[in-house]
Amino acid sequence: MDSLAHPTENQTGFPIPAGVFAETVTDVEHYTDRMFRFRITRPQSFRFRSGEFVMIGLPNADKPIFRAYSIASPAWDEELEFCSIKVPDGPLTKHLQKIVPGDTILMRRKSTGTLVLDALLPGKRLYMLSTGTGIAPFASLIRDPETYEKFETVILCHTCRTAAELTYGEALVKRLREDPLVGELARDHLIRYATTTREPTSRMGRITKLIENGRLFEDLDMPRLSPDEDRVMICGSMDMLADCKTLCQSFGLEEGANNRPATFVVERAFVD
Ligand code: A2P
Repeated sequence: MDSLAHPTENQTGFPIPAGVFAETVTDVEHYTDRMFRFRITRPQSFRFRSGEFVMIGLPNADKPIFRAYSIASPAWDEELEFCSIKVPDGPLTKHLQKIVPGDTILMRRKSTGTLVLDALLPGKRLYMLSTGTGIAPFASLIRDPETYEKFETVILCHTCRTAAELTYGEALVKRLREDPLVGELARDHLIRYATTTREPTSRMGRITKLIENGRLFEDLDMPRLSPDEDRVMICGSMDMLADCKTLCQSFGLEEGANNRPATFVVERAFVD
Protein backbone atom coordinates (compact mmCIF):
# COMPACT_ATOMS: atom_id res chain seq x y z
CA MET A 1 0.00 0.00 0.00
CA ASP A 2 1.33 3.42 -0.91
CA SER A 3 1.42 6.22 1.55
CA LEU A 4 -0.37 8.46 -0.91
CA ALA A 5 -2.31 11.16 0.57
CA HIS A 6 -5.49 10.94 2.17
CA PRO A 7 -6.02 14.34 3.72
CA THR A 8 -4.83 13.08 7.10
CA GLU A 9 -3.06 14.71 10.02
CA ASN A 10 0.61 14.07 10.68
CA GLN A 11 2.85 14.67 13.68
CA THR A 12 3.05 18.42 13.00
CA GLY A 13 -0.71 18.82 13.05
CA PHE A 14 -1.02 20.05 9.46
CA PRO A 15 -2.99 18.07 6.89
CA ILE A 16 -1.15 16.09 4.22
CA PRO A 17 -2.26 17.67 0.91
CA ALA A 18 -4.28 15.39 -1.35
CA GLY A 19 -2.43 13.68 -4.21
CA VAL A 20 0.98 13.94 -2.51
CA PHE A 21 3.08 11.08 -1.13
CA ALA A 22 3.87 11.30 2.58
CA GLU A 23 7.13 9.41 3.15
CA THR A 24 9.30 8.71 6.17
CA VAL A 25 12.89 9.89 6.62
CA THR A 26 15.13 6.83 7.12
CA ASP A 27 18.59 8.41 7.29
CA VAL A 28 20.24 11.85 7.46
CA GLU A 29 23.95 12.62 7.04
CA HIS A 30 25.43 16.10 7.43
CA TYR A 31 28.68 16.84 5.59
CA THR A 32 29.21 20.53 6.32
CA ASP A 33 27.20 23.47 7.60
CA ARG A 34 26.09 23.96 3.97
CA MET A 35 25.36 20.45 2.70
CA PHE A 36 23.60 17.26 3.81
CA ARG A 37 21.88 14.22 2.37
CA PHE A 38 18.77 12.36 3.44
CA ARG A 39 16.98 9.17 2.51
CA ILE A 40 13.25 8.48 2.60
CA THR A 41 10.97 5.51 2.05
CA ARG A 42 9.91 4.98 -1.56
CA PRO A 43 6.25 4.68 -2.51
CA GLN A 44 5.75 1.30 -4.17
CA SER A 45 4.07 2.80 -7.23
CA PHE A 46 6.67 5.56 -7.75
CA ARG A 47 8.70 5.15 -10.96
CA PHE A 48 11.35 7.53 -12.28
CA ARG A 49 14.21 7.67 -14.75
CA SER A 50 17.71 8.08 -13.30
CA GLY A 51 18.62 11.79 -13.37
CA GLU A 52 15.11 13.15 -12.86
CA PHE A 53 13.85 15.44 -10.08
CA VAL A 54 10.72 15.57 -7.92
CA MET A 55 9.07 18.30 -5.86
CA ILE A 56 9.78 17.95 -2.14
CA GLY A 57 8.13 19.71 0.81
CA LEU A 58 7.46 19.48 4.53
CA PRO A 59 4.10 19.05 6.24
CA ASN A 60 4.57 22.27 8.22
CA ALA A 61 1.90 24.57 6.75
CA ASP A 62 -1.58 24.46 5.24
CA LYS A 63 0.05 25.15 1.86
CA PRO A 64 3.54 23.68 2.12
CA ILE A 65 6.43 25.06 0.06
CA PHE A 66 7.73 22.61 -2.55
CA ARG A 67 11.13 22.73 -4.25
CA ALA A 68 12.67 20.65 -7.03
CA TYR A 69 15.12 18.01 -5.79
CA SER A 70 17.08 15.69 -8.05
CA ILE A 71 16.76 12.09 -6.98
CA ALA A 72 20.28 10.94 -6.09
CA SER A 73 19.47 7.24 -5.78
CA PRO A 74 19.26 4.87 -8.74
CA ALA A 75 15.94 3.68 -10.15
CA TRP A 76 16.47 0.19 -8.66
CA ASP A 77 16.97 1.37 -5.06
CA GLU A 78 14.17 0.62 -2.61
CA GLU A 79 14.61 4.01 -0.91
CA LEU A 80 14.98 7.53 -2.33
CA GLU A 81 18.03 9.67 -1.64
CA PHE A 82 18.43 13.46 -1.93
CA CYS A 83 21.23 15.97 -1.46
CA SER A 84 20.46 19.42 -0.08
CA ILE A 85 22.13 22.67 0.68
CA LYS A 86 21.29 24.52 3.90
CA VAL A 87 20.31 28.14 3.53
CA PRO A 88 19.84 29.81 6.95
CA ASP A 89 16.85 31.86 5.74
CA GLY A 90 15.77 29.50 2.95
CA PRO A 91 11.99 28.98 3.06
CA LEU A 92 12.36 25.21 2.75
CA THR A 93 15.94 24.34 3.71
CA LYS A 94 15.90 26.25 7.01
CA HIS A 95 13.39 23.59 8.16
CA LEU A 96 14.54 20.68 6.02
CA GLN A 97 18.06 20.76 7.48
CA LYS A 98 16.56 19.82 10.88
CA ILE A 99 14.85 16.59 9.78
CA VAL A 100 15.62 13.37 11.62
CA PRO A 101 14.73 9.72 10.92
CA GLY A 102 11.03 9.15 11.48
CA ASP A 103 9.97 12.62 10.21
CA THR A 104 7.55 12.99 7.31
CA ILE A 105 8.55 14.36 3.89
CA LEU A 106 6.01 15.32 1.23
CA MET A 107 6.71 14.39 -2.36
CA ARG A 108 4.66 15.22 -5.45
CA ARG A 109 3.82 12.20 -7.59
CA LYS A 110 5.46 13.07 -10.93
CA SER A 111 9.18 13.12 -11.59
CA THR A 112 10.62 14.93 -14.59
CA GLY A 113 13.86 16.44 -15.91
CA THR A 114 16.30 16.76 -18.77
CA LEU A 115 19.37 15.07 -17.27
CA VAL A 116 18.28 11.70 -18.61
CA LEU A 117 20.03 9.35 -20.99
CA ASP A 118 17.15 9.64 -23.47
CA ALA A 119 17.93 13.33 -24.05
CA LEU A 120 21.40 12.56 -25.40
CA LEU A 121 22.45 11.10 -28.72
CA PRO A 122 24.71 8.05 -28.51
CA GLY A 123 28.35 8.91 -27.91
CA LYS A 124 31.67 7.57 -26.65
CA ARG A 125 32.26 9.61 -23.49
CA LEU A 126 29.77 11.16 -21.08
CA TYR A 127 30.98 14.16 -19.06
CA MET A 128 28.89 14.99 -15.97
CA LEU A 129 29.71 18.53 -14.85
CA SER A 130 28.51 19.37 -11.33
CA THR A 131 29.07 21.86 -8.54
CA GLY A 132 27.87 21.51 -4.94
CA THR A 133 24.63 19.57 -4.61
CA GLY A 134 24.42 19.52 -8.41
CA ILE A 135 26.09 16.11 -8.11
CA ALA A 136 22.72 14.58 -7.09
CA PRO A 137 21.32 13.54 -10.50
CA PHE A 138 24.71 12.07 -11.38
CA ALA A 139 24.76 10.10 -8.13
CA SER A 140 21.68 8.41 -9.58
CA LEU A 141 23.01 7.98 -13.12
CA ILE A 142 26.41 6.55 -12.16
CA ARG A 143 24.60 3.80 -10.25
CA ASP A 144 22.44 2.90 -13.26
CA PRO A 145 23.85 0.09 -15.44
CA GLU A 146 22.20 1.66 -18.51
CA THR A 147 24.65 4.57 -18.31
CA TYR A 148 27.51 2.16 -18.95
CA GLU A 149 25.62 0.38 -21.72
CA LYS A 150 25.41 3.70 -23.55
CA PHE A 151 28.85 5.17 -22.83
CA GLU A 152 32.33 3.65 -22.85
CA THR A 153 33.68 6.23 -20.42
CA VAL A 154 31.79 8.27 -17.83
CA ILE A 155 33.59 11.23 -16.26
CA LEU A 156 32.02 12.60 -13.08
CA CYS A 157 33.35 16.13 -12.52
CA HIS A 158 32.50 17.67 -9.16
CA THR A 159 33.68 21.06 -7.95
CA CYS A 160 33.01 22.45 -4.48
CA ARG A 161 34.39 25.26 -2.38
CA THR A 162 35.98 22.94 0.20
CA ALA A 163 37.25 19.38 0.54
CA ALA A 164 34.53 18.54 3.09
CA GLU A 165 31.87 19.33 0.48
CA LEU A 166 33.43 16.73 -1.82
CA THR A 167 32.96 13.99 0.80
CA TYR A 168 29.54 12.89 -0.46
CA GLY A 169 30.80 12.23 -3.99
CA GLU A 170 34.01 10.62 -2.80
CA ALA A 171 32.21 8.17 -0.51
CA LEU A 172 29.60 7.49 -3.17
CA VAL A 173 32.12 6.46 -5.83
CA LYS A 174 34.10 4.40 -3.32
CA ARG A 175 30.96 2.48 -2.32
CA LEU A 176 29.90 2.13 -5.93
CA ARG A 177 33.16 0.45 -6.91
CA GLU A 178 32.38 -2.27 -4.33
CA ASP A 179 28.74 -2.63 -5.37
CA PRO A 180 27.75 -6.16 -6.48
CA LEU A 181 25.45 -4.87 -9.24
CA VAL A 182 27.42 -2.03 -10.87
CA GLY A 183 30.81 -2.20 -9.13
CA GLU A 184 32.65 -3.81 -12.01
CA LEU A 185 31.17 -1.41 -14.58
CA ALA A 186 32.11 1.55 -12.41
CA ARG A 187 35.65 0.28 -11.83
CA ASP A 188 36.18 -0.13 -15.56
CA HIS A 189 34.28 2.85 -16.97
CA LEU A 190 33.83 5.60 -14.37
CA ILE A 191 36.36 8.35 -13.65
CA ARG A 192 35.83 10.81 -10.78
CA TYR A 193 37.41 14.23 -11.28
CA ALA A 194 37.01 16.42 -8.19
CA THR A 195 38.27 19.94 -7.61
CA THR A 196 38.01 22.64 -4.94
CA THR A 197 38.06 26.39 -5.38
CA ARG A 198 38.43 27.89 -1.92
CA GLU A 199 40.54 25.36 -0.02
CA PRO A 200 43.92 24.09 -1.18
CA THR A 201 43.73 20.46 -2.38
CA SER A 202 45.66 18.41 -4.92
CA ARG A 203 43.36 19.59 -7.74
CA MET A 204 41.98 23.09 -7.82
CA GLY A 205 39.89 25.37 -10.02
CA ARG A 206 36.45 25.87 -11.47
CA ILE A 207 35.55 23.23 -14.04
CA THR A 208 34.88 25.96 -16.61
CA LYS A 209 38.45 27.21 -16.26
CA LEU A 210 39.89 23.67 -16.43
CA ILE A 211 37.97 23.00 -19.63
CA GLU A 212 38.94 26.35 -21.16
CA ASN A 213 42.65 25.97 -20.45
CA GLY A 214 42.63 22.28 -21.43
CA ARG A 215 43.85 21.07 -18.03
CA LEU A 216 40.91 18.67 -17.61
CA PHE A 217 41.76 16.90 -20.87
CA GLU A 218 45.47 16.77 -20.06
CA ASP A 219 44.73 15.26 -16.65
CA LEU A 220 42.39 12.68 -18.17
CA ASP A 221 44.59 12.11 -21.21
CA MET A 222 41.60 12.61 -23.48
CA PRO A 223 40.92 14.82 -26.47
CA ARG A 224 39.12 18.14 -26.10
CA LEU A 225 35.31 18.10 -26.28
CA SER A 226 33.95 17.17 -29.69
CA PRO A 227 30.35 16.77 -30.86
CA ASP A 228 31.36 13.53 -32.62
CA GLU A 229 32.35 11.63 -29.50
CA ASP A 230 31.45 13.57 -26.35
CA ARG A 231 28.19 14.16 -24.51
CA VAL A 232 27.81 16.52 -21.55
CA MET A 233 25.30 16.82 -18.70
CA ILE A 234 25.42 19.95 -16.53
CA CYS A 235 24.00 20.56 -13.04
CA GLY A 236 24.83 23.39 -10.64
CA SER A 237 24.01 27.02 -9.86
CA MET A 238 22.44 29.33 -12.44
CA ASP A 239 25.77 31.01 -13.21
CA MET A 240 27.57 27.70 -13.52
CA LEU A 241 24.89 26.38 -15.91
CA ALA A 242 25.09 29.46 -18.09
CA ASP A 243 28.90 29.36 -18.26
CA CYS A 244 29.06 25.63 -18.96
CA LYS A 245 26.38 25.94 -21.62
CA THR A 246 28.31 28.68 -23.43
CA LEU A 247 31.45 26.57 -23.18
CA CYS A 248 29.75 23.48 -24.65
CA GLN A 249 28.40 25.55 -27.51
CA SER A 250 31.90 26.91 -28.18
CA PHE A 251 33.00 23.29 -28.78
CA GLY A 252 30.13 22.81 -31.25
CA LEU A 253 27.81 20.85 -28.93
CA GLU A 254 24.04 21.42 -29.09
CA GLU A 255 21.50 21.40 -26.28
CA GLY A 256 19.13 18.44 -26.21
CA ALA A 257 15.76 17.70 -24.63
CA ASN A 258 13.61 14.62 -24.02
CA ASN A 259 11.85 14.99 -27.36
CA ARG A 260 14.94 16.21 -29.21
CA PRO A 261 18.11 14.38 -28.13
CA ALA A 262 21.36 16.21 -28.87
CA THR A 263 24.90 16.47 -27.48
CA PHE A 264 24.50 18.26 -24.12
CA VAL A 265 21.77 18.83 -21.50
CA VAL A 266 21.38 21.25 -18.61
CA GLU A 267 19.42 21.20 -15.36
CA ARG A 268 18.92 23.85 -12.78
CA ALA A 269 19.69 22.60 -9.25
CA PHE A 270 19.25 25.72 -7.20
CA VAL A 271 17.09 25.33 -4.11
CA ASP A 272 16.55 27.75 -1.21
P1 A2P B 1 34.02 29.62 -6.53
O1 A2P B 1 34.48 29.23 -5.15
O2 A2P B 1 35.13 30.13 -7.40
O3 A2P B 1 32.83 30.55 -6.50
P2 A2P B 1 28.46 27.39 -4.58
O4 A2P B 1 28.61 26.61 -3.31
O5 A2P B 1 28.58 28.88 -4.42
O6 A2P B 1 27.24 26.99 -5.38
O7 A2P B 1 29.68 26.98 -5.48
C1 A2P B 1 30.01 25.63 -5.70
C2 A2P B 1 31.22 25.58 -6.58
O8 A2P B 1 30.86 26.08 -7.88
C3 A2P B 1 32.35 26.47 -6.09
O9 A2P B 1 33.54 25.73 -6.17
C4 A2P B 1 32.30 27.65 -7.03
O10 A2P B 1 33.56 28.26 -7.26
C5 A2P B 1 31.84 27.00 -8.31
N1 A2P B 1 31.21 27.96 -9.22
C6 A2P B 1 30.45 29.01 -8.90
N2 A2P B 1 30.04 29.68 -9.98
C7 A2P B 1 30.57 29.02 -11.04
C8 A2P B 1 30.53 29.24 -12.45
N3 A2P B 1 29.86 30.27 -12.99
N4 A2P B 1 31.18 28.37 -13.24
C9 A2P B 1 31.86 27.32 -12.71
N5 A2P B 1 31.94 27.08 -11.40
C10 A2P B 1 31.32 27.92 -10.56
